[in-house]
Formats: sequence, structure tokens, C-alpha cells
Amino acid sequence: MKIKKIAVTTGGGDAPGLNGVIRAVTLAATKRGWECVGIREGFDGMLHPDQFEDGGIVPLNPATVRGISHTGGTILGTTNRGNPFSYDVQNPDGTLQKTNLSDRLIEGFKSNNIDALVAIGGDGTMAIACEVAQLGIKVVGVPKTIDNDLDGTIATFGFDTAVSFATEAIGRLHTTAASHNRVMIVEVMGRNAGWIALEAGLAGSADVILIPEIPFELSKIIEKIELRNQNRKKFSIISIAEGAMPVGGEASYKEVEGVKNLGGIGEWLAQSLRGKINNQVRTVVLGHLLRGGSPTSRDRLLSLRFGAAAVRALDDGHFNVMVGLDPPTVRHIPLEVATKNMKTVPLDCDMLMTARDLGTCLGD
Ligand code: F6P
Repeated sequence: MKIKKIAVTTGGGDAPGLNGVIRAVTLAATKRGWECVGIREGFDGMLHPDQFEDGGIVPLNPATVRGISHTGGTILGTTNRGNPFSYDVQNPDGTLQKTNLSDRLIEGFKSNNIDALVAIGGDGTMAIACEVAQLGIKVVGVPKTIDNDLDGTIATFGFDTAVSFATEAIGRLHTTAASHNRVMIVEVMGRNAGWIALEAGLAGSADVILIPEIPFELSKIIEKIELRNQNRKKFSIISIAEGAMPVGGEASYKEVEGVKNLGGIGEWLAQSLRGKINNQVRTVVLGHLLRGGSPTSRDRLLSLRFGAAAVRALDDGHFNVMVGLDPPTVRHIPLEVATKNMKTVPLDCDMLMTARDLGTCLGD
């Protein structure tokens, strides 16, 4: 069956580059004579059209996607609580019940005459895309996340922007840390993967880099700080991933709106260091700043390449796949394969070896 109309959705946490994908998908689809629509806020626009002033499904055409590639966020909106297979539906008494709304989703595709879906998102969205595909919808996934933790692609867009921002932040902290002889701890996002902390830490010349893949020993960090103090560099910068943890300990979580989110390890480390070293210690949590702003040129390019590759995959009859960067090209792999594993930092990777060769303390 020839494709006549496709839908695009963005799900999960936003990442710089989402709008680039939306633009590339729209332009490549339009070029093929296909109609293109966007689903608002993950799948919510299709599940609850009455909750949206514009009906939840919006036309995407060259005019509606003009001038958006360089902007952060997503023009469609997003949610990380909209899994149609396990949707929080409110009972009359206000309690929430996980409900499978996939019938409603399929009905939405049928009534809107949508032949295929481009699902842009992280591991959660790819898992949903996989289930949607099993219901007979033609799906192509486009991987996004600042965390870079998706398997099946060398890189996700959003990551480079996050690393650039974190590197800039670490650079700024150097001067204030040096002026006050302080230890500055920079906590960055990344969930259970240390990519952002590692790459920004390395690029920003942090003295200590702590990632979830290498549980740290406090004594090693203290040793490094004292060594620097003795060498008249009486300040140190620590880049720490939100998912990092001490040897024998656990990752730190904070409850936000009923959901347990990683966070707080930077301040935990600061408290653990205070009194054990001569320096004052301060913590900076970069948090959602890493997800904001304009995508770097690398992320813009990747997002445009991914979007165009997703449409080419559909046009070539490759369904239920995820596009991914496999330099020098963009390929696609089955969604099931792509969603199997999380991509963490390999302990023998060149980046870690480089850090060790430079004398950076990795906490071990
Ligand atoms: O996956 C992207 C990410 O920014 C993680 O790095 C972070 O742990 C999480 O999302 C934060 O989620 P939320 O936006 O719900 O606070």
C-alpha cells in the first residue's frame, strides 16, 4: 500500500534538535506528495483530542515548519507520562489507574487516515513505538536524548548541545573556584549513563570525573584534591553524573511530583567532603539547563539527517525500525534490537583512557 499520510510525534523529555527532525520529516514527506500531521504532546493529541484547542492533530507543511531547525524544545509539545499502553486514567475518587488505551490510539490512526508514524523519542518512546508497531501500524523511530544512552546509534541529537553547555559551565566555574580556592562540584543529567559528565568533564578539564559506570571511593577524590592543594592549585573541579554512586552505596534520588528522579549526588558528595579537606565546597546542578537552548550545528545536522532518513526508510518500505548514526551514514535497525540495551560508557573506551592518561581522577 502506498503511503499518503504520515504522523509525527515527540515523546519523553525534550532535547535540542526535535524541531529539526520535525522539519526534515515534513519537507521530505511533502516532497513525496505525502500529507504530514503532528500529534500533540506525545500521543495525547490522538488519545484526548477534545483536550486540545486545535484538536490535537495539527497539519505539518513547509509553512508550519519554517524557521524552526535552530530552536530548542518541540513545536508539538511532549510528555513523559503518556504511554498509551499504560495510561494514568483518573478514577472518580481521584486515584489514578494504569489503563491500556491502545484501542483508542489505533482508532485515531484509522479515523485520521494515517498510514505511518514517525516516533521521535528516547528509550520510553522507542519501547512504545515497538508496541504500536505490533498492533499493525507502520513505524519508524528517531532516537533523541541528551543522555546519549540509546543503543543502535553512535549518537543522539541533544547530546552535543548538552555537552557544549556543560563544558561552558565548567569553564566558567574554573575562575571562581581558583579565586576562592574552592572545590566546585558540577552535577549533570544523564540518568544511568555517564556520557555527559565524562565528555564535558574531559573537554572542560575537570580534575575529577564521576560516572555511574565507575562507583567512586571518597578517599580517592580527597587524595586528588589534596595533591592539587599541595601543588599550589588550591581548587578542584568535579564533574559528576546524576547517576553516580559511591562504592557499596546507591544512586541518589529525589521525589518529584510522585516520581523518583535521579539527583542530589552532587550535594551528597559536597557534604561528605566538608570537614575532610581544607577547601570550601560548592555544588552547581545544571539540570534542565542542559535540555534548553538552541541545538549546536552538530545536533541540527543530526536531527535533519535523522528526519530525512526516517522518511526514506518509510518510502523504501522499511517499517518498525529505528534510524541511527553509523558514521559516515545513517542506517536503520529493527526497533526490537534498538530497545534491548542501554548504552553506557564502556570501561575500556578511549575517552576513559584519555582521562586516566591526563591524570584525571575517576574515583577508583
Ligand atoms: O532523559 C533525559 C533527562 O533529562 C535525564 O537526563 C533526567 O534524569 C530526566 O530526563 C529528567 O526528567 P524530568 O524532565 O522529568 O525532570
